[in-house]
Amino acid sequence: MSRVLGIDVGGTGIKGCIVDTVKGVFADERMKISTPQPSTPDAMLKAVKKIIKSFDWEGKPIGVGFPAVIKGGKTHTASNIDKTWLDYPIVNKWSTALQTEIKFVNDADAAGLAEMKFGKGKDAKGLVIMLTLGTGIGSSLFMNGELVPNTEFGHIIYNRKIAEKTLSNVARETRKITWKTYGKELNGYLQYLEFILNPDQIIIGGGISKKFDLYSKYFALKTPITCAESMNDAGIIGAALATKLHF
Ligand code: BGC
Repeated sequence: MSRVLGIDVGGTGIKGCIVDTVKGVFADERMKISTPQPSTPDAMLKAVKKIIKSFDWEGKPIGVGFPAVIKGGKTHTASNIDKTWLDYPIVNKWSTALQTEIKFVNDADAAGLAEMKFGKGKDAKGLVIMLTLGTGIGSSLFMNGELVPNTEFGHIIYNRKIAEKTLSNVARETRKITWKTYGKELNGYLQYLEFILNPDQIIIGGGISKKFDLYSKYFALKTPITCAESMNDAGIIGAALATKLHF
């Protein structure tokens, strides 16, 4: 079966669509609802149920991209979601509640999976870093196309602050800084990542990838850097793709 429901849970919105995992495209109309506040496990489950119901997808396998480290069936971080997610046994709780097979993946890893298969990372060799700049900064890392899951480069301390607190797209809006200031600061952070990881390619995803030209002109990097091709859809497509992978 090449059609799977992919759901991208974010700090601001929850989006879902049935995805053709062979072609990497939507097979229906995308649905989006706001992330409940507070974003507790029960409230999030209710929102996800609504999406599943709207696609008539009850009982069928789904892929969920989630904004936390997912390891051993649990969510291990909770930077932009309710703190009750720390060490929450999401796999067990949600598969039981939804009575279906669910593959959970970090949201940035999901976006990276889609971009590596269908976008700018297609056939890429060596080390590729994809960053999603949205409510936070998500990261995914690939070596010769293989995902190294659960990296958190948005949590690196840069300029004495957690990088995502000053450099995510939401932080840029809150700080009301110009594209020039943002571009230069982001450049410094990227140079730091470049220094410690020596990647072969960097891809910028998330909503802000649409504005790539406005801030990338201030970059002075050794590594080739591009904006993601699949922009905002990558998280949903990648969540669906993750159901076909073992990691
Ligand atoms: C979370 C990451 C997530 C990123 C983007 C960060 O705060 O720790 O797991 O990928 O936000 O949503």
